[in-house]
Amino acid sequence: MSTEKFVEPLCYDYKYLFRPDLLKGKVAFITGGGSGICFTIAEIFMRHQCDTVIVSRNLTRLQASSKCLENATGQKCLPVKADVRKPEEIKEAVIKALQEFQRIDILINGAAGNFLCPAAKLSFNAFRTVMDIDTMGTFNASKIVFEKYMTDHGGVIVNITSTQHISGVPMQCHVGAAKSAIEALTKHLAVEWGPNNVRIMCVAPGPVEETEGYRRLAGPASKEDILKIIPIRKIGTRCDIANIILFVVSEAAGLLTGSCIIADGGSWMGMMSAVFNQIPPPKL
Ligand code: NAP
Ligand code: COA
Repeated sequence: MSTEKFVEPLCYDYKYLFRPDLLKGKVAFITGGGSGICFTIAEIFMRHQCDTVIVSRNLTRLQASSKCLENATGQKCLPVKADVRKPEEIKEAVIKALQEFQRIDILINGAAGNFLCPAAKLSFNAFRTVMDIDTMGTFNASKIVFEKYMTDHGGVIVNITSTQHISGVPMQCHVGAAKSAIEALTKHLAVEWGPNNVRIMCVAPGPVEETEGYRRLAGPASKEDILKIIPIRKIGTRCDIANIILFVVSEAAGLLTGSCIIADGGSWMGMMSAVFNQIPPPKL
């Protein structure tokens, strides 16, 4: 299969905010790392001297992404095919990662599925599919990485959630249910695995441009419409999210565990601000 259609944008003009060797010697296992936000997380980690393992179902895309990331950063990136819904496949992927690198310091649970669909039209299997990929996938990868490595060595797990469940966004009940379950799971695991020196956090992006999620979810809304509901009037970039996650996995965030950083420019505080934003501000 041709790899040309799998070209992901790189952050060519990346401006370092942290020490370039911040993640030197570390290894990150990133589900969903062949595309979108998680591809850029892999890139920014690698620009900070981390090696990565990128995991998803489409091996052709993973191989193209891995080559692109290695060429751009000079670090190693191992592409591994696995479906996060299948614990046996994730187990195999973790074993391959450990054979290659002997360690997994960071786990990013980014694999997810989404589409707009009203609850009344959603099939039972459609709801279950998103719960399986997002929630079960996060549990499967976390439990396996914990058992095989982090239980003895510690580490950091970052779960990528979202903001749909905060205000009950329409046509998103499947994703809201799945992501809020991940946020609950994060707290439980943070309490249970804290004594093993494992920190577990969520990062919840708002709309992030140049991603599959944005393409699928913006629906009929224009960029101008979306900007109106974001207090800082800025749509997030993949690099914005990757930088936040870089902070979360760094020692600077050593006291953070069990919580969620909402990375959306303040739009979650929303509905009424969206209404009031339509009204011109009074002259001062
Ligand atoms: P994306 O590029 O489509 O990323 C999703 C990734 O998950 C793909 O690489 C896909 O690869 C992988 N995946 C899907 N099902 C899988 C499975 N069963 N097993 C293993 N891998 C699987 O979309 P994105 O927009 O960048 O989203 C990335 C993350 O950010 C998601 O967790 C999403 O919920 C979250 N998020 C995104 C936005 C946004 O605006 N984009 C906003 C809030 C939250 P394969 O098809 O190769 O399996
Ligand atoms: N609207 C309503 N239902 C939908 C749908 C849509 N747009 N897309 C899929 N479904 C339903 C299917 O009809 C099926 O239900 P059914 O058996 O009752 O007909 C169910 O969801 C599973 O679909 P299937 O295509 O078999 O699942 P899959 O495991 O191959 O793919 C998806 C998972 C559906 C989430 C697919 O869109 C995907 O792979 N997404 C990954 C990328 C992504 O979503 N990125 C954005 C992240 S924010």
